[in-house]
Amino acid sequence: MKSVLGYETVDYDREHHALVIVDQTKLPGEVDFLSLTSLREIRDAIYHLKVRGAPAIGVAAAYGLAALGWRIEADTAADFMKQLSRHRDDLCSVRPTAVNLSWALHRVYGACEDFLNRKPGEAQGRPEGEKIHKLREVLLREADRMKEEDADICRRIGEHGLDLLRPGDGILTHCNAGQLATCRYGTATAPIYLGQERGYGFHVYADETRPLLQGARLTAFELQSAGVDVTLICDNMAASLMAQGKIQAVLVGCDRVAANGDTANKIGTSMVAVAARHYRIPFYVCAPLSTIDRDTPTGREIQIEERPAEEVTRMWYRQPMCPPGVKVYNPAFDVTDHSLIHGFITELGVFSSPEEI
Ligand code: MRU
Repeated sequence: MKSVLGYETVDYDREHHALVIVDQTKLPGEVDFLSLTSLREIRDAIYHLKVRGAPAIGVAAAYGLAALGWRIEADTAADFMKQLSRHRDDLCSVRPTAVNLSWALHRVYGACEDFLNRKPGEAQGRPEGEKIHKLREVLLREADRMKEEDADICRRIGEHGLDLLRPGDGILTHCNAGQLATCRYGTATAPIYLGQERGYGFHVYADETRPLLQGARLTAFELQSAGVDVTLICDNMAASLMAQGKIQAVLVGCDRVAANGDTANKIGTSMVAVAARHYRIPFYVCAPLSTIDRDTPTGREIQIEERPAEEVTRMWYRQPMCPPGVKVYNPAFDVTDHSLIHGFITELGVFSSPEEI
């Protein structure tokens, strides 16, 4: 099996100006790449989790906007920006909980505004067609930068996280905050991959993560493909493993950290944090600074994405696994109270609260 570390989760095809992603809905059965150029295709890929995980969604959306920029027909730079902002807003709304999505889209759009407004020497006086061409280059350059930065941030999260762990530790993780959720290494998996390189001999337990099984389909797949000792468990087994003394640390990713440290991550995360507190096991959130949203005071203000019932009732199953018409509640994320979080592992180090950063 080829290690997933050898694939690009998110990339850009410069010849055809297309966003290129690994289709994560086909994993682990098939490694298939998708080349996306239209707003509908890019929206659809993000909504249906063909690309998912907060940092990967951000970079994918940034490259997506660059690909769309190449297709905008405009006579003036002002018109180009107007159309671009419509695409930006459209993509922003696809998955509301992951702050990286809007952060990334506003960042690449902002780079274009900077080019037009804050560098008058460069932009003013050029013919409109030339300005538009430059704006397209600015979009792509900024998206490239974000991708490079993401890999570097994850590696630094890995170094800081590894300092908290000991050889032979049992580590529990929930959902997929791995290479497939980022541009390289993952966030929660970065200390695991670095530990693997350095012979730490971790035993990793991956929650399957109902209902969309990101833990089973993606985390188990990517860690196994990299040669990590990984064991798949059902979500309801985590407390039992903790009671048996098999878990020394919990590492999870996040979609949005509120200013007070309340953290939104995949549904089921808060249940793991509650169990970890009971068994006195440190619960760490691996959080790139881009995931900290200082405009959202507490977890109560975080918008939680609700997904279709069908994801619970039949998706991934050969047959429907509940009575037809049963009521279903399917929030994609939950909020872990800041009091349950031992530390935030960021690219700058480990902090007990975002207020310290
Ligand atoms: O719905 P998903 O698969 O996008 O949810 C992903 C998660 O919850 C991850 O833990 C989070 O985005 C962090 S990824 C580094």
